[in-house]
Amino acid sequence: MSVAIRGAVVVTKRGEERLDVKIAEGVIAEMGTSVGPADIELDGTKCHVLPGFVDLHAHLREPGKEDSETIETGSRAGVLGGYTALVAMPNTNPAQDSVPVIEFVRLQGQRAGLLEVVPSGCITVGRAGTALSPMAELARAGVQIFTDDGSGVQDPALMRRAMEYSRELGITLAQHCEVSSLTVGAVMNECSCSSDMGVPGWPALAEELMVHRDIELAKITGARIHFLHLSTAGSVHLVRQAKALGLPITAEVTPHHLSLTEKLLRSFDSVYKVNPPLRSVADIEALKAGLLDGTIDAIATDHAPHVRRDKELPLDQAPPGMLGLETALGVVLSVLDLTPLQVAEMMSARPAKIAGIAERHGMLPEVGGPANLCVVDMQKEWTVEPRSLASKSTNTPYVGRALRGKVRHTIFDGHVVVNDGKAMR
Ligand code: DOR
Repeated sequence: MSVAIRGAVVVTKRGEERLDVKIAEGVIAEMGTSVGPADIELDGTKCHVLPGFVDLHAHLREPGKEDSETIETGSRAGVLGGYTALVAMPNTNPAQDSVPVIEFVRLQGQRAGLLEVVPSGCITVGRAGTALSPMAELARAGVQIFTDDGSGVQDPALMRRAMEYSRELGITLAQHCEVSSLTVGAVMNECSCSSDMGVPGWPALAEELMVHRDIELAKITGARIHFLHLSTAGSVHLVRQAKALGLPITAEVTPHHLSLTEKLLRSFDSVYKVNPPLRSVADIEALKAGLLDGTIDAIATDHAPHVRRDKELPLDQAPPGMLGLETALGVVLSVLDLTPLQVAEMMSARPAKIAGIAERHGMLPEVGGPANLCVVDMQKEWTVEPRSLASKSTNTPYVGRALRGKVRHTIFDGHVVVNDGKAMR
């Protein structure tokens, strides 16, 4: 089955070029001012062709929480957001700390067949923070990124040991930075709002202490460490300093930490409760600056679906997290004026490298290259309609918001998985 994308601007190594793209047998077969007919014709007028996005941070909830999302529904949400690969977070039930669970997640991804599901492995058994997972065995099964996301590894000695092993195994450790003794009961950022509201706050320090600790551990172990969902100006400062020393550190930021502030929690609406919490305007400005100067490598969604009955609980009981896959591009382009090349770097090329899948994803389109692509209208204005989302859950704070930038088509492994904004399966 061949596919042609016509009328779009392609972001290539040489710059932006007005080219048609023909895809056959899973690769880009031809690029030129006019390519021959194909079985499926896609209109790319007013659009850019980019490498398919890669999300370093998606909670797909399967196994264990299939009422909020499944690998299939999460994959569908992913392709609608332009993603061709999702790193599946390990806080499933059972957790992704054994080869059978890893293989199950990978297989469910293949069954859904919409994009590549890349399972992450736990750093510690059951994410309990007490004993290391069988990291070598998981690495042999192809796991390249390890994390206890949902919580950070609290014990510095255990983290040091994980870092030492990770060097030997050539894998990346991704840290959820939160010193949990500082965040007990916290529902939002520790700030004047949290004091006014009389609710326990989550101080910036709880994140920054762990960022600092892991940078110091990286210095003595040489481990590759990736910082998940950074949310404070102090964290950006620490990572900038560490990178200046040449340490192999990478970091990500979410669309919600670039666009929403702590003040929204004044409503006591748990749709805004997320971990780490929404922060101040000054933090947002520092995160944006960090992203633009390369201190922060990637944009990652932290897509965290939750069923309505859980999210409707009072603020202190509701679980943290919000949807992200279908709105990521629109939210990011609404708050940052990025070029198509910057989008390709932040949402595709760099995350693909960090996830260890750069031979299949994240490459700028070229003849012979993999046909994992998205076709996006960077200017398109649209409003998020709750019922139009493919995710099984609805916990997005962006309902009713006008966004700029929309995915029109997504092509995975040469197959059209989204055609004109509609998922094909
Ligand atoms: O808000 C969050 N939700 N942060 C996390 O670290 C975990 C996630 C979830 O699994 O719901």
